[in-house]
Amino acid sequence: MKPVILVMGNYLQPTEMQALEDNFETVHLWKEKDPESLLQERKSDIQGIASVHSVPVSRTLIEALPNLEIISQFAVGYDNIDLAAAKERGIAVTNTPDVLTDDTADTGMALLLAVSRRVCEGDMYVRVGKWLNGNMPLGWSPKGKVAGIVGMGRIGQSVARKCEAFGMKIMYQGPRKKDGIPYDYVADVKALAEISDYLILTCPGGAGTRHMVNAEVLEALGPTGFLINIARGSVVDEQALIKALQDKVILGAGLDVYQDEPRVPEELVKMDNVVLLPHVGSATHETRAAMGQLVVKNLLAHFHGDPLLTPVR
Ligand code: 8YV
Repeated sequence: MKPVILVMGNYLQPTEMQALEDNFETVHLWKEKDPESLLQERKSDIQGIASVHSVPVSRTLIEALPNLEIISQFAVGYDNIDLAAAKERGIAVTNTPDVLTDDTADTGMALLLAVSRRVCEGDMYVRVGKWLNGNMPLGWSPKGKVAGIVGMGRIGQSVARKCEAFGMKIMYQGPRKKDGIPYDYVADVKALAEISDYLILTCPGGAGTRHMVNAEVLEALGPTGFLINIARGSVVDEQALIKALQDKVILGAGLDVYQDEPRVPEELVKMDNVVLLPHVGSATHETRAAMGQLVVKNLLAHFHGDPLLTPVR
């Protein structure tokens, strides 16, 4: 009998979904009109969860599944999973690091360049025929500016290398100074914001970083500063950000993530000093396929009794 896997969302590409279906019996929670009764019916059968960052894997869900053995997450971040509840039950948790590092960092650079050089405004300028009436307002050059990177993990390091290629100076903040990182460390986010032209968020979400970027930090970033967020919406106090952008406390923002996705505050949508993406950090054909393969491989490894490829520790 194939192990039964609860699939939390519609995110696997057809090839990886097929691999999942070939090897497991799947229960698709996201397809159900009445997910509650499906869960009641199948709760004792479910041995694994294929999860995604946008759907919580709560303590209640974990405790409702008496035979759950593994949660295989389609994301590097796992702030949607109650890790403590999983740990108490000895349930394995895996994620998809490395394969998405460069695409996610590229998204950060795309936002940085788009907001600095007014790429989206420029595109619109041409399309609506405004160029015929004169040149567009000037943008700002990243060269020679300070990129303050919050979180110097894999994605932060990739962003740093890319910023260096654009002639930027790198500083970083995180829970601790890291060995082997050639950039200056600043322990406090507000202090980092003060010396940064671009504050670039690449840190994990969750309780430890919630609203770390607040009104005070934005004030420190100042009227020539940009905020770039490719981390989690929860890291930023979104209301404070809206106010800071409206009052020109900061110059602009490039955002891939929001507090209540997929809902984006109307105030942000109306602003022209922001570039808004719909959480597409890892959204390329190549990377999403690699992430899906990892999700399936981790499940297979677990049920074959092999070492997990990418366990969350
Ligand atoms: C999402 C992400 O998982 O890896 C992460 O932490 O946020 C993304 O890669 C992806 O967008 C699927 O929803």
